[in-house]
Amino acid sequence: MKLNKNFLKFSDDYFFYKISCKIKDFIAENKEKKVISLGIGDTTMPLCEAVISAMNNSICEMSKKETYRGYGPEQGYKFLRLKIKNYYKEKGINLNEDEIFIGDGAGRDIGDIQEIFSEDNIVLIVDPTYPAYIDSSILSGKKIVFLNGRKENFFLPMPNNDIKSDIIYLCSPNNPTGSVYTYENLEKWVKYAKNQGSIILFDAAYEAFINSENLPRSIFEIKDAKECAIEIGSFSKTAGFTGVRCGYTVIADDLIFEGCQVNKLWMRRQTTKSNGVSYITQRGAEAIFSKEGQKQIKKNIFYYKENTKLISNSLNEKGIWNCGSENSPYVWAKCPNDMDSWDFFNLLLTNLAIVAIPGSGFGSNGDFYIRFSGFNSKENTLEAVDRIKNLSLI
Ligand code: MLT
Repeated sequence: MKLNKNFLKFSDDYFFYKISCKIKDFIAENKEKKVISLGIGDTTMPLCEAVISAMNNSICEMSKKETYRGYGPEQGYKFLRLKIKNYYKEKGINLNEDEIFIGDGAGRDIGDIQEIFSEDNIVLIVDPTYPAYIDSSILSGKKIVFLNGRKENFFLPMPNNDIKSDIIYLCSPNNPTGSVYTYENLEKWVKYAKNQGSIILFDAAYEAFINSENLPRSIFEIKDAKECAIEIGSFSKTAGFTGVRCGYTVIADDLIFEGCQVNKLWMRRQTTKSNGVSYITQRGAEAIFSKEGQKQIKKNIFYYKENTKLISNSLNEKGIWNCGSENSPYVWAKCPNDMDSWDFFNLLLTNLAIVAIPGSGFGSNGDFYIRFSGFNSKENTLEAVDRIKNLSLI
């Protein structure tokens, strides 16, 4: 028996796991301190009324012989896929429900999708970005090339035809920087992908946090994107489904490589390896798209964004450069006094009992940055902001 050697390429634990271990240790050693997490992007507001009521109804259905459901369709129930189809239609994107695949969260599909691509592909990843793109590329044995996201290019690096790539991960709004590619930017990415014969894996997990009507929320708003992109969406951050688990992946019929429709391969993979997402969860997700559901989740999104504004303002007052709060639930800040991201992380944790995420975990361009999340309660955010105001940086 031989182990999968790709696992041995990791020099460290998965980034978010490493942070959670550090926090656990700190709490164990400082029981008297109230630790406030502005760290991992985990939602804190309860599921909205529309979702709860739909889930309760579906539990009742499961309790009766006549309405009980066993295995659901591997691709997801049609009632949910139709709602997602309509959601796209509102953005001017026509999909057919068979191009939509329900899964148990974007995090899963982001990695699993690599299974349908050959190991000898080159993966292009923006640095800084969500670390799961890197880890899943390493696990599947692929070579990675990085594209530099820096303050100077607003953390929105653009493609360069001299760089060869086969698979491109794009996240917009970007995690961790909150930067959003414009229509013009994404047109260039689509053009590049088509020239290269590469595929874009577009992570739209934060699209609902975009504030402006003038910024794209889906790669499919761009002409020809269906021929070169897959989009991965999530209900985790938009509707508090981090613990419930539900998301979706869109692969259009027009996405064809080597004469093969890519969605057929994904369907083949899903039917073998997945038994789908629970009926109760999918009924809950369906309710997100009702009029009430939309109103209720938007209220929560607004609440989180108010938190990011509070954090951003408090950093501005301290003269700490930051961005991201406009179109994402995160604030991406330059560490003060040339501190590196782990030093600032340790200072915030030890001196203020505040957890933030060291930028280096998102790539080397994040070495001198830190990420704060707006997902805690307003009360805790206000308390954290007060602590930050009193932080001595001398
Ligand atoms: C984050 O904090 O970046 C994400 O919430 C982590 C995740 O989605 O796995």
